[in-house]
Amino acid sequence: MARTKIALIGGGNIGGVLAEQAAYRELGDVVIFDVVEDMPQGKALDMAEGAPLIPSDAKITGTNTYEGIAGADLVIITAGLARKPGMSRDDLLATNLKIMTQVAEGVRDNAPDAYVIVVSNPLDAMVYQFKKISGFPKERVVGQAGVLDSTRFRAFVAWELGVSVQDVSALVLGGHGDTMVPLIRYCTVGGVPVEQFLSREKIDEIVERTKGAGGEVVGLLKTGSAFVSPAISALEMAEAIIKDKKRVLACACLCEGEYGVDGLYVGVPCVLGAGGVERIIEVELDADERKLFDASVAHVQKLVAELETGS
Ligand code: LAC
Repeated sequence: MARTKIALIGGGNIGGVLAEQAAYRELGDVVIFDVVEDMPQGKALDMAEGAPLIPSDAKITGTNTYEGIAGADLVIITAGLARKPGMSRDDLLATNLKIMTQVAEGVRDNAPDAYVIVVSNPLDAMVYQFKKISGFPKERVVGQAGVLDSTRFRAFVAWELGVSVQDVSALVLGGHGDTMVPLIRYCTVGGVPVEQFLSREKIDEIVERTKGAGGEVVGLLKTGSAFVSPAISALEMAEAIIKDKKRVLACACLCEGEYGVDGLYVGVPCVLGAGGVERIIEVELDADERKLFDASVAHVQKLVAELETGS
């Protein structure tokens, strides 16, 4: 039986961590695609030469042509510009929209049966564009954002309490931007609601830090955005699909009626398995959560409207 073929579109910082981790964990053979000549081949060769020490028998190669991703089972897209200090994810829309259009055509024509995870920003608009251009079914096109936003929330809560990050569970819904909605009621520590451990002020501080967490890293790095945690988050989703784990994860899914949203990609909890997005889970939101969620959806709607007018 052939190994799973994983194609990474974009050989930048996130693509590099994705390639290394996917191959070294033997999730599948990995091909890195990038438009920059020789760069993906160089990164792949470096990782392949380190593989005996891991040890990993997964193949890692690089390519500059979409033909090189032919027959990929899973595609993870990170292509596009990353933020610099002072920029919001939305500022990347016009440039990354053009890139995503080409990527979607390349994937559609060369890996028509692939499951696709989009990571490029502004995420909710980019995954929408990929779906629109590729025409792939919604089960096979999903965006990474909620896993990263939730893992940041988990980390901050665990650090505050001095407990294992493993024992904190969290759910962040909505768009991947300043309007994201970390759901306090659904954050638990060892199964116990976080509100029994932390004051409202402390929780609010953590919520605000979570919303600005991507920007916090951009501000420190100065030359780009976070890349390790986004890559690991995308791999969590990839692994769920490849191993049919039926993980319950917050992902950008195409909602068609769920949460009262129609025809937009927004972050919602879903079951990820061999069928891709196997179902969306509708959790109950109280009036305040609903308000925040609706505001986040309205923001995504505005971005998509800009996208549709080609700005
Ligand atoms: C972040 C970027 C990758 O949240 O969106 O760090």
